[in-house]
Amino acid sequence: MQFVILTGASRGLGAAMAERLLSPSRQLVCVARSPNEALAAKARARGARLDYRLCDLSDAAAAVRLADSLGQAMKSASDVSRFVLINNAGMIEPIGPVETLAAAPLAAALQLNLAAAMLLTGSFLAATDASGAERRVLNVSSGAARYPVAGWSAYCSAKAALDMFTRCIKAEQGDRPNAARACSLAPGVIDTDMQVTIRAADQADFPPVERFRKLKADGALGSPDEVAGRILAYLERDDYGEREIDDIREH
Ligand SMILES: NC(=O)c1ccc[n+]([C@@H]2O[C@H](COP(=O)([O-])OP(=O)(O)OC[C@H]3O[C@@H](n4cnc5c(N)ncnc54)[C@H](OP(=O)(O)O)[C@@H]3O)[C@@H](O)[C@H]2O)c1
Repeated sequence: MQFVILTGASRGLGAAMAERLLSPSRQLVCVARSPNEALAAKARARGARLDYRLCDLSDAAAAVRLADSLGQAMKSASDVSRFVLINNAGMIEPIGPVETLAAAPLAAALQLNLAAAMLLTGSFLAATDASGAERRVLNVSSGAARYPVAGWSAYCSAKAALDMFTRCIKAEQGDRPNAARACSLAPGVIDTDMQVTIRAADQADFPPVERFRKLKADGALGSPDEVAGRILAYLERDDYGEREIDDIREH
């Protein structure tokens, strides 16, 4: 059996991955602030094992409680051949020049996009270390981790740090027995609520906004389901983790 934890499963890319992961032979644990009734209905219809946790991962204390609880769930799981953690939850805001960013939204963005993923990864690695099962961590990154974007300093910085964190996991796991494999994967531009928020930004806050409006008008955004399928196929690869920084558009 696979045991998969997926954050940000209420909508967008995460919801699309969750739907594809539903199976009676897989324990799927989803996390988001809001429920996903369509996913719950599909899980019931397919006899899939879905454990859906409501948690605000931008709240550091709530993220710690969740990480502890998921650690317990992983430790008490039996017959697991592979544990998977997909850190997908993310937010693009706050958008604007850094001198306009308020402390609270900035802290929330760094907590969600970076600190929560680090915390969940730590709990995942600790809880599964002695399991003997294969272990894979997928951090959903962004092209914006790898080049600067005016108005997105919070997002770019957190995603760049998520990339570096993934490289550090690889360095720490090294060639120890049953080393966990990790990858920070950019998913391309996808037609989700995050893109709605991006297109609604004021040009003064986000100078390249027109480029994103044009991508939508040109039908150039990936569909969440199609991208989800490609990411989950990538996660299955035998050489998963050999490239710890990658971009699904290159595959
Ligand atoms: N869309 C793109 O073009 C694009 C491009 C590059 C990278 N990405 C990355 O892909 C991932 C998925 O993005 P998306 O486009 O699917 O975004 P989305 O449509 O905005 O969905 C974001 C997901 O994250 C969850 N989330 C947001 N804040 C949360 C919080 N405080 N606590 C817990 N969960 C939270 C949301 O659930 P709730 O609101 O219910 O909490 C939702 O399920 C993100 O990491 C994003 O950075 C997206």
